[in-house]
Amino acid sequence: MSEKQKFYIDTFGCQMNVHDSEKIAGVMNDYGYSLTNDPKEADLIIYNTCSIRQKAEQKFYSELGRVKSYKKRNPSLKIAVAGCIAQQQGKEIFRRAPHVDIVFGPQNIHLLPDLIKNRQKVAANHDNQLIAEHDLPAMRNSGCKAWVSIMYGCDNFCSYCIVPYTRGRERSRPSENILREIKELAEKGFKEVTLLGQNVNSYTSDTDFPGLLRMINRLNGIERIRFVTSHPRDLSDALMSAISELEKVCECLHLPMQTGSTRVLGLMNRGYTYNEYRKKVVKLKDLTPDMSITTDIIAGFPGETEDDHKQSVDALREIEFDGIFAFKYSPRPGTVASDMEGQLDEKTKSARLAEILDVQDSITLKTNNKINNTIQEILVEGPSETDESMLTGRTRTNKVVNFKGDKDLTGNIINLKITEVKRHSFTGVIL
Ligand code: SAH
Ligand code: SF4
Ligand code: F3S
Repeated sequence: MSEKQKFYIDTFGCQMNVHDSEKIAGVMNDYGYSLTNDPKEADLIIYNTCSIRQKAEQKFYSELGRVKSYKKRNPSLKIAVAGCIAQQQGKEIFRRAPHVDIVFGPQNIHLLPDLIKNRQKVAANHDNQLIAEHDLPAMRNSGCKAWVSIMYGCDNFCSYCIVPYTRGRERSRPSENILREIKELAEKGFKEVTLLGQNVNSYTSDTDFPGLLRMINRLNGIERIRFVTSHPRDLSDALMSAISELEKVCECLHLPMQTGSTRVLGLMNRGYTYNEYRKKVVKLKDLTPDMSITTDIIAGFPGETEDDHKQSVDALREIEFDGIFAFKYSPRPGTVASDMEGQLDEKTKSARLAEILDVQDSITLKTNNKINNTIQEILVEGPSETDESMLTGRTRTNKVVNFKGDKDLTGNIINLKITEVKRHSFTGVIL
């Protein structure tokens, strides 16, 4: 018998894409292919792409250019493009990059084996109404923490965002399927799950999102529950109570604010004012005092004035986030904001982004210092990628801690004392 065919995956973008790559790997594994970490020995190379900002798209196209030569060496090599660029550009990718054989969107992962059999170039980027009902196998990287999809797509149409065009309509997975998957993970020894969706707070099946959290909280074996992403507009009192009451739900929340200017929030179609946002954060911290809150900020949205920008900076100082992800506004084709008046030049956007990052830097250090010398519960993930002699893990508040210890601790929950605060991580000692 001939050797197994091999596939290689390169993943760009957010957690959804990381998890989709696990599903692509699961589907290909079931189909009889084996995963390789070396693109040169692959029979199939898959790019799981992101189109959230222009930079992400450029990065993918330059990678794609590089593999062209591989086909000369191995004429039977197939190149597939998956993810958000695949969904949005479809057949157009064949025109831009004729060495691509297969294009398939995030809703059509299950079709990949059929697409491979096809001799001609094929694009599958149609709407899949059954995506939430039909589960795919996932080949997971870690043995202690897992991503679990609870919903697909997004209906929010924030004016800057391409996701509603690349991930389709919002669809929630039946709670029964989610619970079954998490039970299986617990049986395999997983301790932590992160529930995934573009707007998990609007989850609806036979229960709502707080209800789903309560169901998962009851499952034996799972010790930590996280979720991304929460939309501030849909962060209800019931959800805030669930976060504070349920012992397995971790004290951390990613709550993208985008800007501190209520006027710009309106232009962005976000559905809340800065004041409403701020009040929710105050309430969250009242209910759960050691809650860590992180956010996303966009610098230089069309029409953003110096005063609007100042309001974003003031908001950072007022709220004191544990960390932020900030980006320059990037016009995306087909979105409402890309046609708005008042598009700012790169220089202005860069200067505003730099100020935002600079202001947040000292705030992050200040919030990080709060846990110096405290005892923290850590889920041990294994040897640190940057220093093999150290182990790494995360606190319940999702902060990375490195420490000395036996590799056999991997997958266990232990207590540590924090002894050193760095910019992006902490050092600790086992108690
Ligand atoms: N569903 C999530 C996040 C989706 S994208 C949410 O609603 O928060 C992740 C982040 O990318 C967004 O929060 C936003 O800050 C940023 N982003 C999205 N589109 C962008 C664009 N066109 N330019 C710059 N940043 C963008
Ligand atoms: Fe994009 Fe808004 Fe949907 Fe988030 S909620 S994915 S920012 S449209
Ligand atoms: Fe990118 Fe698509 Fe995620 S555009 S950020 S991979 S949803």
